[in-house]
Amino acid sequence: MTSLQELLLSRIQDVPDYPKPGITFKDITPLLADAAAFTALTEALAEICLAQGAQKVVGLEARGFILAAPVAVRAGVGFVPVRKAGKLPGATLGQAYELEYGTAEIEIHADALEQGDKVLVIDDVLATGGTAEASVELIRRAGGEVTGLAVLMELGFLNGRERLTPALAGAPLDALVTV
Ligand code: PRP
Ligand code: MG
Repeated sequence: MTSLQELLLSRIQDVPDYPKPGITFKDITPLLADAAAFTALTEALAEICLAQGAQKVVGLEARGFILAAPVAVRAGVGFVPVRKAGKLPGATLGQAYELEYGTAEIEIHADALEQGDKVLVIDDVLATGGTAEASVELIRRAGGEVTGLAVLMELGFLNGRERLTPALAGAPLDALVTV
């Protein structure tokens, strides 16, 4: 394990039985509150952005925003939000996806990307992959080219990586830590 991985993992708190019994929530708020850890995380993700030649960073509401915005500034590229349905004021494209119970929908401004824009998608956690899969589809429909998906943490036991393989179509999935 690298020193970066040790630092990041040391600042992610397991919260048992949240949001419901039997689920262990991975709380990143201690990491965000630690300047050295948050800076190291931002720089690692910005390196991925620069290495991929991404022209925009897309953050996924809500926790993805917290990571993606400083990465965009650090890498010198624009930030584009993918939001939960109903929050963006302009004309939008929407993408529905399955949750454990029911469905959800995310949206992007229809004119947020230029045709062919190279886009890095950032989120905090990859769990089942449903959110990321829908966002990749949405970005493509908005004209973007997904250069990769980068997450702070992958929950390997939920097999989101396998689910995402077709949607990513060869674009890399980078997880800074896997649990
Ligand atoms: C969480 C997490 C990821 C997503 C991962 O978001 O931040 O975005 O779930 O799950 P998946 O891989 O199974 O789709 P959530 O919408 O629960 O909360 P948030 O608004 O705090 O980001
Ligand atoms: Mg989220």
